[in-house]
Amino acid sequence: MTTRERAMLHPNYSVDDRGHFCIGGVDSVMLAKKYGTPLYVLDEDAVRRNCRTYYSSVKKHFPPGSTAIYASKALSFKRIYPVINEEGLGADVASAGELYIAKSAGFPMEKILFHGNGKSEADIRFALECSIGCFVVDNREELDTLNRCAGEMGIRQKIQLRLTPGIDPHTFDAVNTGKIDSKFGTAIATGQAFSLTSYALTLRNLDLQGFHCHIGSQIFDDRPFCDAADIMLDYIATVRDKTGFTASVLNLGGGFAVRYTHDDPEISIEENIARLGSHIMDRCGELHIPVPAIILEPGRSIVADAGVTLYTVENVKTIEDYKNYVTVDGGMADNPRYALYRSPYTVLIANRAAANPDALYTIAGRCCESGDMIQEDVPLPAPQRGDIAAVLVTGAYNYSMASNYNWLCRPALVMLRGGTETLAIRHETFADLAACQL
Ligand code: LLP
Repeated sequence: MTTRERAMLHPNYSVDDRGHFCIGGVDSVMLAKKYGTPLYVLDEDAVRRNCRTYYSSVKKHFPPGSTAIYASKALSFKRIYPVINEEGLGADVASAGELYIAKSAGFPMEKILFHGNGKSEADIRFALECSIGCFVVDNREELDTLNRCAGEMGIRQKIQLRLTPGIDPHTFDAVNTGKIDSKFGTAIATGQAFSLTSYALTLRNLDLQGFHCHIGSQIFDDRPFCDAADIMLDYIATVRDKTGFTASVLNLGGGFAVRYTHDDPEISIEENIARLGSHIMDRCGELHIPVPAIILEPGRSIVADAGVTLYTVENVKTIEDYKNYVTVDGGMADNPRYALYRSPYTVLIANRAAANPDALYTIAGRCCESGDMIQEDVPLPAPQRGDIAAVLVTGAYNYSMASNYNWLCRPALVMLRGGTETLAIRHETFADLAACQL
């Protein structure tokens, strides 16, 4: 495969006549020079296309009332929320902080779903004050606290219960959240989910809509989702038979995968949703239960391929007979995913994106930590100080997982729409780093 072909991993990536890597039709080398590096670039047109795929597929293949809700933990900042809203999606928030950002961006609070396995009373009160649409309740203590706070505030709050169906989607362990021994939710297999459900139905200030599960992340096919749906629909039927309560909502969480490299298979979200939809209809028919509205919570597959990160090459170090290191001006502080999960990435020299590789290079970050890498053994044309390195498919879980380790400033984020760019997040300054310190 040529370097140019490697660069064209997604339809919004290209290489121009000068051999510069482009995203959303915009020259990445120009962006790096204009805004400085490290720099996150987000192609808003690609985010919108991904939202539309979910919106239309859910409308077409799922029962009426079904929706897609963006899991904003993947990438949460003010300017993303209007985009998500305009494209007809709701938003899931995983903390009061994400809720605060969504609210300050004017996102409609009735379209918010509040997640988390450790919500504090302050979090719960804040979300109630915001009049959010729905809580996804993880455990009994949360249920009690929410019921009490809602009562004190004169609110009847919609909830879903987060359950663990016990599915292993064969993904990497650190992001596998649906197994029985998961820290999230309440297990169906142990009978605890049923106790929690029966209890929730007795609480006067809570209005149980249905059940939620999230089986994991970076899942390439619909099979694990169909398996999870089977378990959840069986559970809905059991609850109906034993209590008379019929869930009107089944939330199957997020988790559809994204191609990070050419080794990953192509994935069609619409085809997966179509298969999942017909599977759910069939299963509801067999169980003689009304088909619930289905919710999906995609995060990664909305934003990942819309993003790239640009770095400046600081030095190239060859350990003879061992390894070639290319050190860039960022690393695990702006992208901890290789350090945490050994996640694969496609890396290019953006200013020579058509030049063929001469050797394998390991992209090292600048943090004082040996594990600070972006990727190992990448084929590149001999990098030099001052080159721009582009790491592709970084729109999800990069900015949102960034830290200030070693007191590095978090990078700026530029958004692209119709071939023009806007600065959406400015580069942090040393003053920002010191701002909270008294
Ligand atoms: N819903 C719930 C309840 C979740 O916990 C998650 C992700 C999602 C939806 C969105 O899943 P997605 O469509 O993005 O796969 N930091 C890890 C990913 C952690 C995912 C946690 N939960 C990574 O960088 O790969």
